[in-house]
Amino acid sequence: MEKLYVEGNKILNGHVIISGSKNAALPILFMTILTEGKIKIGNIPNLTDINIALKLLVYLGVKITGNETLCIDASSINIFCPPYNLINKIRASIWMLGPLLARFGKAKIFLPGGCKIGSRPIDLHLNGLTQLGATINLKNNCIDAYVKGRLQGKYILMEKISVGATITIMSAATLAKGSTIIDNAACEPEIVDIAKFLNTLGADIIGAGSNKICIKGVLKLTGGTHQVIPDRIETGTFLVAAAASQGHITCHKTEPKHLTNVLMKLTEAGAKIKTGKDWIKLDMRGKRPKSLNICTAPYPGFPTDMQAQFALLNSISKGIGTITETIFENRFIYTSELIRMGAKIKIKNNTIICYGIPKLISSNVFSSDLRASATLILAGCIAAGITIVNHTYHLVRGYESFPKKLNKIGANIKII
Ligand code: EPZ
Repeated sequence: MEKLYVEGNKILNGHVIISGSKNAALPILFMTILTEGKIKIGNIPNLTDINIALKLLVYLGVKITGNETLCIDASSINIFCPPYNLINKIRASIWMLGPLLARFGKAKIFLPGGCKIGSRPIDLHLNGLTQLGATINLKNNCIDAYVKGRLQGKYILMEKISVGATITIMSAATLAKGSTIIDNAACEPEIVDIAKFLNTLGADIIGAGSNKICIKGVLKLTGGTHQVIPDRIETGTFLVAAAASQGHITCHKTEPKHLTNVLMKLTEAGAKIKTGKDWIKLDMRGKRPKSLNICTAPYPGFPTDMQAQFALLNSISKGIGTITETIFENRFIYTSELIRMGAKIKIKNNTIICYGIPKLISSNVFSSDLRASATLILAGCIAAGITIVNHTYHLVRGYESFPKKLNKIGANIKII
């Protein structure tokens, strides 16, 4: 998908079924490297990043069958250096390193790719594995890692909260000798889901979801079945779609407790929110949102992956709103495209100031990353006229059937 035609002046109303979480499914797929047991994983979203992860696993020698529910058998892995052309497509490929090291004692992984929202270093991943006893050499953009015998459990204090590095260390520690404590760990719901999956395979992890995760190493893991949690960022994106268009929406098959901060902010903007066991209802009928002041932070703070969507909401709200980005150093690229659509946004260091206007105007805009893509499409749905959103290949990395789901709630989007 390269380009989308988006008709404006839409009010988005209706029901949407939320897909499985990209940021839980990707690491969980790579965790299967840890075991020779047979695994079944359900609620896997159909995304390009997922397809690339599956290609990487098959290249290693993993056998995979099925669609929505995958049957995975990693008993016959015999390659430890996946190809650069696949690795450099997704940031998640770094999550092969820990499991390959933990189970086979060796791995050669090229530096990963991913959205250009910052430098995306992996020093915390490598530092953690070194503390667990791995020898890691970096040459020609390739990580050459090995350990004699088993990794050794350790107390590891993370100098910075990192979702990815917490996952790398937690996965490697499951097969290490002795216990590992990850202090100042990330608390994202995706990490809780990964720990639940690993414990299903016989790992011994407690404290996931808190800043202190304890992993007692075991000799080997078995097989098991797991259902991936719903995608909280896809949910938040659809809630903003209804709020920004002054409509109403019900998101089904989601997990309200993963979005506490986002729901609080939408309520502050004037939306009526109701939640149930696996659904969230938002009603913004005929009301223009109030401006918000937001600061992104590690979970349970406001998620950086919802920053662009709320910048759109602030752009058409009553008043002046600010959004401060504290996680990534280059995540405001999309604002130039919103400005092209008439938004009044100023950037001051790591804060954007949005001077709310009643209506955006359509334009020809360019996506810069996954969340920016979704935001510009929503902007097109509410602007006056027809908007063309380019470079929407970013979108399909992280949103399953996004145009189709939006069209079901009143949008008119066509692939050009
Ligand atoms: C994960 O990225 C998510 N990606 C991101 O979602 C999400 O925004 C991010 O966590 C934060 O929540 C996936 O799960 C595939 P970090 P990750 O390690 O693991 C710095 C999306 O849109 N850092 O928590 O890369 C890093 O530069 C994506 O779905 C180091 O300095 O994020 C950043 O400033 C975008 N050294 C901060 O830490 C390291 O070794 C947080 O990064 C690792 C990270």
